[in-house]
Amino acid sequence: MHQERAILVSVLIFLIFRFCTCIDTITLTRPLKDGDILVSNGETFALGFFSPANSSNRYVGIWYNKVSEQTVVWVANRDRPITNSSGILSIDETGNLVLHEKDQSFVFWSTNVSRVVNDVFSAQLLDSGNLVLFQGLVNKEVYSWQSFDHPSNTLLPGMKFGLDRKTGLNRVVTSWKSSGDPGVGDYSYKMEFVGPTQLFLYKGMTRIWRTGSWTGHGWSGVPAMTQNFIFNVTYINNNDEVAVVYLIRNSSILSRLTVNESGTVERLTWHGPDKRWIGFWSAPKEQCDAYNHCGPFGFCDPYKSGTFECDCLPGYEPQSPQDWYLRDGSKGCKRKAGTQMCEIGDGFVELARAKVPDTSTARVNMSLGLEACKELCLRNCTCMGYASADISKGAAEGGCITWYGNMIDARTFPDGGQSFYTRVDATELAKYSSQRLKKSHNNRFLVIGVPIIAAGFFFLCAFICYYIWKIRGKLNEGKARFNFMNSLKSSEGCLTDKDIGENVDIHVFDFSKILVATDNFSPSNKVGEGGFGSVYKGKLLNGQEIAVKRLSQSSGQGMQEFKNEVTLIAKLQHRNLVRLLGYCFRKEEKMLVYEYLPNKGLDSFIFDQEKASLLDWKKRLQIIQGIVRGLLYLHHDSRLKIIHRDLKASNVLLDTNLNPKISDFGMAKIFGGEEDEAKTRRVVGTYGYMSPEYAMEGLFSVKSDVFSFGILLLEMISGRKNNSYYKDNSVNLIGHVWDLWKQDKALMVVDSSLGDSYDAHEVLLCIHIGILCVQELASDRPTMTDVAFMLSNRETMLPPPNQPAFIFRQLKYGMDSKSASASGGDGSVFDDTITILHPR
Ligand SMILES: *[C@@H]1O[C@H](CO)[C@@H](O)[C@H](O)[C@H]1NC(C)=O
Ligand SMILES: *[C@@H]1O[C@H](CO)[C@@H](O)[C@H](O)[C@H]1NC(C)=O
Ligand SMILES: *[C@@H]1O[C@H](CO)[C@@H](O)[C@H](O)[C@H]1NC(C)=O
Ligand SMILES: *[C@@H]1O[C@H](CO)[C@@H](O)[C@H](O)[C@H]1NC(C)=O
Ligand SMILES: *[C@@H]1O[C@H](CO)[C@@H](O)[C@H](O)[C@H]1NC(C)=O
Ligand SMILES: *[C@@H]1O[C@H](CO)[C@@H](O)[C@H](O)[C@H]1NC(C)=O
Ligand SMILES: *[C@@H]1O[C@H](CO)[C@@H](O)[C@H](O)[C@H]1NC(C)=O
Ligand SMILES: *[C@@H]1O[C@H](CO)[C@@H](O)[C@H](O)[C@H]1NC(C)=O
Repeated sequence: MHQERAILVSVLIFLIFRFCTCIDTITLTRPLKDGDILVSNGETFALGFFSPANSSNRYVGIWYNKVSEQTVVWVANRDRPITNSSGILSIDETGNLVLHEKDQSFVFWSTNVSRVVNDVFSAQLLDSGNLVLFQGLVNKEVYSWQSFDHPSNTLLPGMKFGLDRKTGLNRVVTSWKSSGDPGVGDYSYKMEFVGPTQLFLYKGMTRIWRTGSWTGHGWSGVPAMTQNFIFNVTYINNNDEVAVVYLIRNSSILSRLTVNESGTVERLTWHGPDKRWIGFWSAPKEQCDAYNHCGPFGFCDPYKSGTFECDCLPGYEPQSPQDWYLRDGSKGCKRKAGTQMCEIGDGFVELARAKVPDTSTARVNMSLGLEACKELCLRNCTCMGYASADISKGAAEGGCITWYGNMIDARTFPDGGQSFYTRVDATELAKYSSQRLKKSHNNRFLVIGVPIIAAGFFFLCAFICYYIWKIRGKLNEGKARFNFMNSLKSSEGCLTDKDIGENVDIHVFDFSKILVATDNFSPSNKVGEGGFGSVYKGKLLNGQEIAVKRLSQSSGQGMQEFKNEVTLIAKLQHRNLVRLLGYCFRKEEKMLVYEYLPNKGLDSFIFDQEKASLLDWKKRLQIIQGIVRGLLYLHHDSRLKIIHRDLKASNVLLDTNLNPKISDFGMAKIFGGEEDEAKTRRVVGTYGYMSPEYAMEGLFSVKSDVFSFGILLLEMISGRKNNSYYKDNSVNLIGHVWDLWKQDKALMVVDSSLGDSYDAHEVLLCIHIGILCVQELASDRPTMTDVAFMLSNRETMLPPPNQPAFIFRQLKYGMDSKSASASGGDGSVFDDTITILHPR
């Protein structure tokens, strides 16, 4: 009877899967012997007996079917190898998978689930790499057991990593003992739930690395992990489970996360052409990743100037200065001597771009916003700091994490991370007052407004005194001299404003000094001109060279707004952005003072026959990567989210080492503070670099910058301007590149001054990325995060590009091809920049 049923089931299963020539199921009547192999339906994974390197032991495991290097992702009998080839994996009468030797009763491994009798059983290897056990044919969705719930050393896409609240199962990934022994090794990686959820990597019982808590985008301590072309990462936290799931958007890409025998969590992707696994992320990597490296109340900053990467949180000092001096941070930090906590006037200081401290000593309340979070923390004296629990939702509803007790294992990143606020006393707070300024508008009024009113009074008095003096002086002095003095005097209004953002280092320049530095804005010092105003080179008395941008009058912004914007923008500091040193104003005229870069713009290199050869491909690629980093910072990593709106070759300056620095960022913000969302009435940009939706409808977003970046990228490869003339019917560079791309001849666009000294793969990758960036539909274009990802993971499969935007076919504006190539001293770059006003 039983047998008949089993045969019936086999026939049924055979019918269901008859389209697959491979066998992917084990049934009562069809066990798996050593030597047999199950292959999943899509032929991605295989299951069978294997021996690891230099071992004759036999194990049952799952590996990639099509990967030439045997890569085992799951092992059944990890700690109980079979010593000869007599092993059999079968389903027993109770519906469990059991591994035993032929004719022996000793069980090497079993699924060991609750025993059901008298039902139909089967086990199937799914194409996701999951081995699942069915008890009963009726409900095929319900697995009574699955290998995904019992990971070995590998997490596969689609696997849930975390806790099943209903069964209490917490999935743990453990390393192999060695490459020849898949037994449970020293290292384990698992989710923990004391306070907000975090992942920990352990060596034995010792924590060696922590991911940080979930921020909504990814783990606080893994800034590299974001949604991108390849992954779709989902964090699930509900009554049934807490888990994180990676999905691969293109199932033909093979990717796995492994805890390897040397204690590293690494993500690898298979590169078919090279037949090897390519690592593309791993942790722990640097000293600052080591758990608790800088002790309690310390934090680690790998890019700190000076030699020791450890630092104390604001308001703290080293516990043992001697150890600290000897570069041992493990004792951590203590409150600064003389600190009076829990008195009136306590406040918080921000640590930006941080991995927040271990949340084991923290509490979370998802229904509070950041302001309420601060209140909550301020009210309770034992609260040491707070942070937003979900930065993807914004400050108002991002939830609240508050810390009580030791705060350990914080660190900062050059880009990424989140803001974390540490409690300090009133004295300490005063030192960081500028940070407070940022957060509360009321405070901002008190801190800036009052001095400004005072300054106003001072100015008025000065002006009256001066006026009396002027009438007297008029008897002796010439008129021209007066005008100069006039500008000199009235700029005194500047001097009283030095208190804005003291630790931002924004300087308010005295107008008279600017006049001296630029030799009265002498035409010979003029180095450029664009849509936002002219730029003059200058030299301060102390020898420092500066670039002064005189903003054109039409900014339509009040002085206070101007100062606020400039102060905010001055806080954007990144090695690929030109540094804003300060500003100056005189009456209605506003000026921005930047660091001076002797090498001028990228355009003066790539579009110049002689200088083009100074930039070989390697250098160009470095420049491209620098531009990407700068834009990434503007778009995603800074607190402001700046859309550049006028990215072009002449706005990328090169320093003495030919490192790129983006200039003119934040201009759009200064010029139109109120319209920083999707639509603008004023289109400022440059012919040839504007995305179609921006040029035609005034719609702008980070994707319009991506478009401009794409053009710039293609220009750097080809050494030609987008709007330069082409013999073969192509309207412009994009058209030309696209035509060649379609014919598989894209390499023909490469700048001849590069000679043969370039890596064709890299150039093709860059051309591909360039075309992706200039696609007609903004939604098709990648974000800068994607671009950064594609550039740094060369092996990534990129999606095929759609037709790029040839908007300039329709939008000719009567421009001839020559006017766009001007950049000479006659100051006619203006025709490089067009301003379309949309009356509405
Ligand atoms: C296997 O053994 C050979 C010879 O002893 C050795 O060279 C090789 O490194 C070993 N491979 C592994 C993976 O241990
Ligand atoms: C396999 O090894 C076991 C002992 O571990 C032994 O009992 C059995 O006979 C062996 N089978 C064969 C086919 O060698
Ligand atoms: C099966 O589970 C029982 C208790 O649940 C446990 O004692 C036993 O060791 C398990 N057997 C195997 C082979 O895992
Ligand atoms: C990501 O995966 C989830 C399911 O886990 C799905 O609901 C969501 O639509 C996916 N997102 C994207 C952008 O593919
Ligand atoms: C997935 O990648 C393969 C190459 O590995 C490519 O041929 C295919 O077009 C990609 N599919 C999608 C939907 O992007
Ligand atoms: C573990 O991963 C790290 C980082 O990818 C790598 O450097 C190391 O060689 C790996 N160790 C082993 C044993 O594979
Ligand atoms: C979270 O905050 C809200 C509002 O203050 C409060 O009502 C709620 O009890 C808090 N929840 C927890 C878990 O503390
Ligand atoms: C402060 O917070 C701690 C931890 O949540 C709690 O035990 C304590 O009762 C709180 N104190 C006050 C005064 O609310």
